[in-house]
Amino acid sequence: MSRELWEAVDSYLTGLLVAPDPALDEALAAAAAAGLPPHEVSPSQGKLLHLLARLRGARRILEVGTLGGYSTVWLARALPGDGLLVTLELEPRYAAVAEETVARAGFADRVEVRVGPAQESLARLAGEEGDPFDLVFLDADKARSADDLASVLPLTRMGTLLVADNVVRAGEVANEASPDASVLGVRRFLELVAAEPRLDAVALQTVGVKGHDGFALALVIAAADDVG
Ligand code: DHB
Ligand code: MG
Repeated sequence: MSRELWEAVDSYLTGLLVAPDPALDEALAAAAAAGLPPHEVSPSQGKLLHLLARLRGARRILEVGTLGGYSTVWLARALPGDGLLVTLELEPRYAAVAEETVARAGFADRVEVRVGPAQESLARLAGEEGDPFDLVFLDADKARSADDLASVLPLTRMGTLLVADNVVRAGEVANEASPDASVLGVRRFLELVAAEPRLDAVALQTVGVKGHDGFALALVIAAADDVG
């Protein structure tokens, strides 16, 4: 099956089911104009994140890896008026683009963009008062995603949904001999998910305008003090 066919089907489905949206188009344009890498989720993937957050009834969302704020806007759209989305970004330049995109979309009151290494931001979050997050989207440096998961788990509750992007990487995830740091990181992440008794998970391949990749979904099925 060819990449052209994946893209044609993705475009057809997106055209049918994902309404055109100026705020999201502007988010992509602002990121491209600022020279950010084109690593946003696709429109249909963004809508999937949005629907998952609504399905979860999410009031508090954590995103690890903001980039220019495209997925941030999709997720913020799922929040109630008094909801909160905390999004963590390593690169100050990317975070500045995201701040503007979030403000332009009308979500500055609900979205906090925090700049710095994810591990530091997650440690700071763990020290703050605040309810657990209802949904977590993991989309930062894939080489470190197992560490991110370990730091995120204490910020969750039974029923929290974790979604991880880019877990297939054009099929390289199944290549035991891959020397690629992102592939190794994703494999370590998936192994940690599989071994974690607080999580019940699945991972699915996707094809479309972003090529061949995939999501992992993991549901937190026990309270932190129930296991290990
Ligand atoms: C890369 C990162 C992403 O989050 C993504 O969705 C696609 C590619 C990357 O770093 O290559
Ligand atoms: Mg991604």
